Amino acid sequence: MNRIRRAAESVGTPAYVYDLDIIRERFGTLTRLFGRNFGVSFAAKSNPNIELLRALNPLVTTLDVSSFGEVERGLKAGFDPRNLTFSGPAKRVSEIRGAIACGLGELVLESVPEARLASAVAQELGVTQNVLIRLNPVRVPRHFGVNMAGKPSQFGIDEEVCGEAIDIIRALPGLELIGFHIYSGTNSLNVDAIAENFNIFIDLFKRASDRADIHPKKLIFGSGFGIPYMDGESPLDMNALAERIMPAVDSLRSEPRFADANCILEMGRWIVGPAGWLVTSVVAAKESRGVQIRACDAGFNNHLAACGMMGTVIRRNWHIQNLSNPLGAKQKYLLVGPLCTTIDILATNIELPEVHVGNLLAVGGSGAYGITASPTRFISHPEPAEVLLDGDSQVDATESRLNHWETLGRHRAAAENGSQT
Ligand SMILES: Cc1ncc(COP(=O)(O)O)c(C=O)c1O
Repeated sequence: MNRIRRAAESVGTPAYVYDLDIIRERFGTLTRLFGRNFGVSFAAKSNPNIELLRALNPLVTTLDVSSFGEVERGLKAGFDPRNLTFSGPAKRVSEIRGAIACGLGELVLESVPEARLASAVAQELGVTQNVLIRLNPVRVPRHFGVNMAGKPSQFGIDEEVCGEAIDIIRALPGLELIGFHIYSGTNSLNVDAIAENFNIFIDLFKRASDRADIHPKKLIFGSGFGIPYMDGESPLDMNALAERIMPAVDSLRSEPRFADANCILEMGRWIVGPAGWLVTSVVAAKESRGVQIRACDAGFNNHLAACGMMGTVIRRNWHIQNLSNPLGAKQKYLLVGPLCTTIDILATNIELPEVHVGNLLAVGGSGAYGITASPTRFISHPEPAEVLLDGDSQVDATESRLNHWETLGRHRAAAENGSQT
């Protein structure tokens, strides 16, 4: 954690710090356990930092983008447009046109009307665009953080009507159906649930491919692999998961129809989540009605998810460490952010080594859905810096200086308020 502290000190807080060594190690695990059958698609939405994408490029098969902005980020990070797949429920015509024109790998169709639009655009541009149909299964097993299927949904084409949709899309000029995509549940730590979901995918891929009468070239399995965010949660047992999933995929690929299918695990948080920390400085300390309160320079404006406001019903404390005083005597604290609202809470009743003004606290599990999934404009506090660690070297990957106070320069609470450890 010393590297994390030094990195944050060098750019000032708040700062997101990402460790590439951890990311590479996690890719090593994926390759070892799943590489025989699967490539990996990284979901840019989980962390679209361009320097990070540049580092991920050699490790992944494809980049999953969900807006033209993410297409541009992928291209800036050096991705070949043929290695981009574009999903998302509300693609503007201009986005579809821009993506097709730049030589996009596959457009992931979320509906028949979108397919008609894409067909018209491809014809207008005089090209044939490879497409995948996103299917929305009738059922998602329990134990996923968020379900996108099994109910009315903006994502994909409902399994119940996908036969007719496949017939229509197959007949559209300018589009070449080369496979299918399913992403129906995120953030599961349950091996049985994920394995069952993969069986649902396989069954649906088979039926859809039969109906389309194609030998699919690509099948995207929305992994749903989760990470532990809170005390009491354990990491996914990846060995057990591979043992459950791989035989089913071996069997699928042994069928002549699927012999050439390029199977892809699509995911974001499992790869980058545990490799990132949000480092925040303690700006103020007080006691109120018997509770020790520490106010930090980052709150939900910088990390909505850690404050329990992204897809969670009950806010629970994330893993937080005191980087400045790791050996101090433990005490209980209410950790709040800098915003003028009672809901700006990082942790309640959290036990930490004594926390003083100027200390740096690190919120773990923050590599995915951090800065870009947070309302950073609220109350005009400076946006966090972003730093990429690669072995002993460090790259300042900060993209936005929004709200960095022009007259004061970069806010460094530690320097301003003085460390009192
Ligand atoms: C289509 C699609 N792909 C990939 C992801 C990435 O999910 P995760 O970061 O949980 O792996 C999502 C998340 O919502 C998604 O909707």
